Amino acid sequence: MPHLLESRRLLKDFGGLNAVDHLDFHIDEGEIVSLIGPNGAGKTTFFNLITGFYPADDGKVLFDGHNLLGLSPYQITELGIARTFQTVRLFQEMTILENVMVGQHCRGRSGVLGAVFRPPRYRAEEARIRKKAEEQLAFFGSRLGGYRLDQMANSLSYANRRRLEIARAMGTEAKLILMDEPSAGMNPKETEEIASLIGKLRDERGFTILVIEHDMKVVKGVSDRVVAMDYGHKIAEGTYENVANDEHVIEAYLGRKATREDQDAS
Ligand SMILES: Nc1ncnc2c1ncn2[C@@H]1O[C@H](COP(=O)(O)OP(=O)(O)OP(=O)(O)O)[C@@H](O)[C@H]1O
Ligand SMILES: [Mg+2]
Repeated sequence: MPHLLESRRLLKDFGGLNAVDHLDFHIDEGEIVSLIGPNGAGKTTFFNLITGFYPADDGKVLFDGHNLLGLSPYQITELGIARTFQTVRLFQEMTILENVMVGQHCRGRSGVLGAVFRPPRYRAEEARIRKKAEEQLAFFGSRLGGYRLDQMANSLSYANRRRLEIARAMGTEAKLILMDEPSAGMNPKETEEIASLIGKLRDERGFTILVIEHDMKVVKGVSDRVVAMDYGHKIAEGTYENVANDEHVIEAYLGRKATREDQDAS
């Protein structure tokens, strides 16, 4: 079976710095894969290449039989890849329900302008989209549902804003969701909830999930497979245990100097 998403020798060169350096990567349908690596390793840049936010300098990205390079972010969303961002990006002045509805308008005929101006002929479609958005939000229980549906996004706590980003990504009917540090800035209980949410999104909703995550408890808890990056390269890949104990990974996190000091000390 072909991989759901695959990159081959993918390259992004920021003026001499290869942020993603000939990266071979794949994820299969139904997998949860964590992408780890120290700050500046190239993880977010990799997401930006997959989703068309940055043009690649070389290589290939294949998704579900399509070559993604050269497509716009909008076209890539339509093909079935959704993402959340490292820093929350919501429509702060729109309600929770509207934020999720906007995510779905790439699926409807009326487009984003139709969502804003609501001409009468789109009412039926809008009702359908609204119902779907309510269903997506119901997945988050009282965190985003009930009386909160019509509250402004900017009234939400930070953790709930991150949940809303995930709800919006679900709303695009994606096959693959890319999450960039979903637990960043969350307390331990909220982080645990995010880990179980990631599992539920795959088990109950059938999404394939690629998640960039710094919290090793989350990585350990959710991943079928872990891929570690440093300086734009893949430095290790395998089960959590294999990758967490890999000497290249330990060295990347501790830094060469610290590793040498450890060895000198022993
Ligand atoms: N738009 C850009 N222009 C120039 N350099 C960039 C740009 N975006 C990222 N970089 C550089 O590319 C490298 C990889 O950055 P990236 O944001 O992908 O890392 P990351 O692995 O997501 O790190 P973090 O864990 O801190 O989020 C860094 O050296 C960064 O400074
Ligand atoms: Mg990043």
